[in-house]
Amino acid sequence: MSGLNIHDLSVNYGKRPVLVSLDAGPLPRGQITALLGPNGSGKSTLLRTLAGLTKASNGSLSLDGEMLALSAVSARSHSVVYLPQALPAGVRLQVLESVLVAARATRDGAQQPRGKPHSSEIEHAHAVLQRLGIEALAARSLDELSGGQRQLVGIAQALIRDPQVLLLDEPLSALDLNHQFHVMQVLREVTRERGIVTVVVLHDINVAMRACDRAMLLHDGRIVHFGPPPQVVTAASLAQVFGVLARIEPCSRGHHQVLIDGLADRTGIANRMGAVSP
Ligand SMILES: Nc1ncnc2c1ncn2[C@@H]1O[C@H](COP(=O)(O)OP(=O)(O)O)[C@@H](O)[C@H]1O
Ligand SMILES: [Mg+2]
Repeated sequence: MSGLNIHDLSVNYGKRPVLVSLDAGPLPRGQITALLGPNGSGKSTLLRTLAGLTKASNGSLSLDGEMLALSAVSARSHSVVYLPQALPAGVRLQVLESVLVAARATRDGAQQPRGKPHSSEIEHAHAVLQRLGIEALAARSLDELSGGQRQLVGIAQALIRDPQVLLLDEPLSALDLNHQFHVMQVLREVTRERGIVTVVVLHDINVAMRACDRAMLLHDGRIVHFGPPPQVVTAASLAQVFGVLARIEPCSRGHHQVLIDGLADRTGIANRMGAVSP
């Protein structure tokens, strides 16, 4: 089946299970899957495992029916691109250079010659910056950018690598409203144009509802719901997983909107945190 499939995947940190027997798929090509769940539910661990950076204790992954080697970054890095939650600070490259370096990282893996960037490569890098609305930053140094600007450059570096599987961990966390909307629009276009399997960790459930094709809701290292966002994000699932009282209502344009009225009762919260009632 076309897309990414997760089969019986488990991850432990030491002896502690963090992901337990995850089965999901297909995460289709040309679609964005939102990865949702509370802090510590295993979202970043899942993304890092899909990227081959964290070793799974069990299970397998396949892309278009072909098995992907677990924990084999080098074999996977050309098709799978991962943007971490925390981006490295103190990098002295110019923005444009950093995007060219990212493009080269992929090309070199494909045994292409090194040397000065060709004018077509520079043009391509400018086009990616332009598409993300950050062309004006091209000559700036990375270490003098704001957190949000650096995050946009990180997204540009990921897109120029032309992935088949694109894994983005909280890529909107430092962005203003306009850029959040714009980035999701670009991700939707690029995902469809190139038939990418895109997985994005999001905290804003409304962004997931509006801009994603599927949602996967994690709770304590297990997938509790996977499917079209309106089926996954319900008042019941938000109460169960996040301990909030929520309403889902259409906005004037017909999009589903989540409104939070408050916290669920204390017992619900204690259960979520794994506390034992006296
Ligand atoms: N490198 C690590 N070593 C040990 N435990 C970890 C490590 N990374 C994450 N964890 C733990 O695994 C659980 C899931 O973490 P993570 O995947 O980062 O959650 P999320 O991204 O959903 O907030 C948490 O309890 C976290 O403390
Ligand atoms: Mg995380």
